[in-house]
Amino acid sequence: VGSDLKAIRGRLLSFVSEPAGPGDRSSYCFIEDGIVVVRDGRIDAVGEASELAPALPPGTAVDHHPDGLIVPGFIDTHIHFPQTQVIASYGAQLLEWLNKYTFVEEQRFADAGHAERNAVFFMDELLRNGTTTAVVYATVHPGSVEAFFAESERRGTGMIAGKVMMDRNAPPGLRDTAQSGYDESRTLIERWHGKGRQRYAVTPRFAITSTEEQLEAAGALNRENPGVYMQTHLSENLREIETVRQLFPDARHYTDVYDRYGLLGERSLFGHCIHLDDDEVRRLSDSKSVAVFCPTSNLFIGSGLFDLKRLSGGADPVRVSLATDVGGGTSYSMLRTAAEGYKVLQLGGQNLPALSAFHMMTRGNALALGMGGSIGTIEPGCFADLVVLDARATPAMAHRMETIEGDLDEELFVLMTLGDDRAVRETYVQGRASK
Ligand code: GUN
Ligand code: ZN
Repeated sequence: VGSDLKAIRGRLLSFVSEPAGPGDRSSYCFIEDGIVVVRDGRIDAVGEASELAPALPPGTAVDHHPDGLIVPGFIDTHIHFPQTQVIASYGAQLLEWLNKYTFVEEQRFADAGHAERNAVFFMDELLRNGTTTAVVYATVHPGSVEAFFAESERRGTGMIAGKVMMDRNAPPGLRDTAQSGYDESRTLIERWHGKGRQRYAVTPRFAITSTEEQLEAAGALNRENPGVYMQTHLSENLREIETVRQLFPDARHYTDVYDRYGLLGERSLFGHCIHLDDDEVRRLSDSKSVAVFCPTSNLFIGSGLFDLKRLSGGADPVRVSLATDVGGGTSYSMLRTAAEGYKVLQLGGQNLPALSAFHMMTRGNALALGMGGSIGTIEPGCFADLVVLDARATPAMAHRMETIEGDLDEELFVLMTLGDDRAVRETYVQGRASK
């Protein structure tokens, strides 16, 4: 049986380092008429179409996107798959939003059929938006994780997901126990972690919904299963932080609650990280933990403004990634997310150059997951997970682009500021058109 060969041609953009500032030409590789040769789902070669195309075996299928901008598939490092019908819920901040909308909706995932239908919708929606890898919260029900991973496997995507662990301060239908949460997580790890492209994330929801016993169980899962990820929420909302203080009176601060149970580390992702004190920033930095910036969510739930400069640019730099946080977040699109990220930073007197935003959505988020060289860049050996973008996708974008002559930086800024799913022409998963 011969190997499966195809090629994708267009304008190629991939990063090689973190952009030092606007227009940092050394941070990326751009080929105006480039081609990606795909063999068995992985990138076999990348280069000038004029050099590589003539060397392809006769009859090799070539998808040509003459003015499409081909970048690595987007990576979303924090999203809730059971919140597709929570998104756009009116008028509440975090704790009320959880009780009034989220915990009601998530109970429906006890039904396997409901979970399966939502997994299909969710994967469709991610791919329509150019997202090819995501770090995903399921619900407390193990079946929700099964449904999600099964769907990801069918599509050929590489996803990271986990069963939410929550054994208090939630409705009975949405609670596990320290023991059942441990057992069910362990079974899911055995079934799914490292099965093809799927990876597991131990997922204690946040300190408010886990007893000390459960956080200890989460720490044990982390320790006992090298290579699994850990995801939770940290320091999102002021009332949340006050509640954590009351629930854990012995902890030095919110971060310390997780630290005590061995939940910090280079495979640990902490959603939000808005209201941290200096000691917390130091602990996240020392432990190489990742702070996840979720701008549309932070604005929509009214939580506060992420301070990128303080976290990533200080004496104790914290690794940072970017994410949608649907359904607290309001868009599945990483382009929209970058646009809101830019505005959040503007409000803090900071900037987000287009190159930095596109780096974050691709190579930066891949590095935050320890997956550099596998996803997030267009280079030999990587999975051929790609997205084809069109900076003239809408009348407003096309009109704006009339004033831009071949400046990549400006084109990227138009894409992130005005773009969304309409700017995604195609999404490739392992070289297969999957939008
Ligand atoms: N904190 C605990 N659970 C959640 C959630 O589902 N969404 C957000 N945004 N914050 C949380
Ligand atoms: Zn979240």
